[in-house]
Amino acid sequence: MPSTVNYDAVAPAYDRRYETNRLDGVEAVLRRFIGKSECADVAEVGCGTGHWLAKIRNLVRRAAGLDLSAEMLDRARIAAPDALVVRGRAEQLPWTTGRFDLLYCVNALHHFGNVEAFLAEARRVLRPHGAFMTIGLDPHTNLDTWWIYDYFPTARQADRGRYLPTSTIRGQLEAHGFMDAATTVAHHVSASVPFATALERGMVDRCAASQFMVVSDTAYEEGLRRLRAEQPVLHADLRLYVTFARALSS
Ligand SMILES: C[S@@+](CC[C@H](N)C(=O)[O-])C[C@H]1O[C@@H](n2cnc3c(N)ncnc32)[C@H](O)[C@@H]1O
Repeated sequence: MPSTVNYDAVAPAYDRRYETNRLDGVEAVLRRFIGKSECADVAEVGCGTGHWLAKIRNLVRRAAGLDLSAEMLDRARIAAPDALVVRGRAEQLPWTTGRFDLLYCVNALHHFGNVEAFLAEARRVLRPHGAFMTIGLDPHTNLDTWWIYDYFPTARQADRGRYLPTSTIRGQLEAHGFMDAATTVAHHVSASVPFATALERGMVDRCAASQFMVVSDTAYEEGLRRLRAEQPVLHADLRLYVTFARALSS
């Protein structure tokens, strides 16, 4: 399903999410993925505002970022001035064959219109034995509870359409020239926030999460109305999964 989220409009407020949740588990996994490869050429696809590119800037030889949204990229150029950032589509990467040692996505795969086309492109731009990593939710496991799904139930349905189960991602990786695909939990979000605090922190703003942007205006207003009426404590118990794979040699 193509991205229905207008990230140009989201860009000015996007990084606010990292003030409420730094996603330390994601940073730790990313650092392990980069490892001691100061000589590595690394790409992030769907790099957004460059939040993760900024974290790796002193750890790699060259970092590159690609995103569809010009407004997100304007911020990435400031956050990660050494990275070569470019506007483009994940499904048609503008880079030459065998250009990178490592390629990763964080919370982006579910926005790509054609994941299989992207994985084929990721394999093409990676060197043989290069490594791939993607991090995101898997709303198919039934393990997670999230106030967003409770108050905006059509968001859960939408997420089940947008996000692939990690087992499918692994299968598609192996079908597109990768091996040793494996998935683990990268970060466990476990949080309880009173509604009044969430409101203050902008956590229920329409642009705070793509889940609010893929539901109808009516569904969003109805969820907000219920939240205002009930003033609940908002609970999240969510897993972000990381799937790794290595590029086959031919
Ligand atoms: C949720 S943001 C994640 C940004 C960043 N990786 C992060 O974790 O902060 C998803 C990003 O994917 C980008 N995106 C959506 N569809 C895309 C596509 N087909 N090709 C490249 N980027 C895309 C959006 O513009 C947006 O910046």
